[in-house]
Amino acid sequence: MAVAHPKLGLRPFLPDDTTLLREIFRDSIEELTADDYTEAQQEAWASVADDVTDFGNKRSGQLTLVATLEGSPVGFASLEGKDKIDMLYVHPAAAGQGVGAMLIDALEKLAGARGAPKLFVDASDNARGFFEKRGYVAQQRNTVSVGDEWLANTTLHKQLATKREAS
Ligand code: ACO
Repeated sequence: MAVAHPKLGLRPFLPDDTTLLREIFRDSIEELTADDYTEAQQEAWASVADDVTDFGNKRSGQLTLVATLEGSPVGFASLEGKDKIDMLYVHPAAAGQGVGAMLIDALEKLAGARGAPKLFVDASDNARGFFEKRGYVAQQRNTVSVGDEWLANTTLHKQLATKREAS
C-alpha cells in the first residue's frame, strides 16, 4: 500500500521547473516502464521531451501540477483541455509513496470544479493498473506512432462528481 508522505506538497508549474520535469520524465520512463516496453520504445517515448522549448510551452499551456518532496519536484501531472490527462510522471526514487495518487486526485478535483463531467487518459501499459485502481474504466486499446516506434496504450475514462455532488 502506498504511504502518504508528510513532506509531500503540491503547487502549480513554473517555467523554471522545465529542466527538472524533463529529467523526471526521462528517469521515470527509463526505470519504471521496462516491463512493458522495449528499450527502443522507451527511448522514442523519452525523446518526446528533447525539445526543451516545446516541452516547457506545453506544460505552461496546460494545467500542470508539480508534486514536491521536502520542496523538490518529484512528479508532475498535466491536464490537456478540460478533460484529458496528458501526462503523469513520478521520479523512480519517489514512486510508491502516494505522489501519483496525490497528483491525480488534485487534477480530478480541479477538472470537476471547472465542470468536466468525465476525465480521459491514454494510459501506458505500466500505468493502466494505477488508473483502474482509481476507478478509471478501459474503453479501447491504441497503438501510437512515436518516432520510429509503435507504442501500445489504453484509453480509460472516469465519471467525476458534479459540482453539486462534490459540495
Ligand atoms: N499498477 C497497479 N497499481 C499501481 C501501479 C501500477 N502500475 N502503480 C501504483 N499503483 C497503486 C499503488 O500500489 C497505490 O495503491 P494503494 O492506494 O492501494 O496504496 C496506488 O496505486 C497509488 O500509488 P502511488 O504511490 O500514488 O503511485 P506512484 O507515485 O508510484 O505513481 C505512476 C504511479 C505515475 C504510474 C508511476 O509509476 C510512473 O511515473 N510510471 C512511469 C511513467 C508512466 O508510465 N506514466 C504514465 C504515462 S500515461 C500518461 O502520462 C497519461
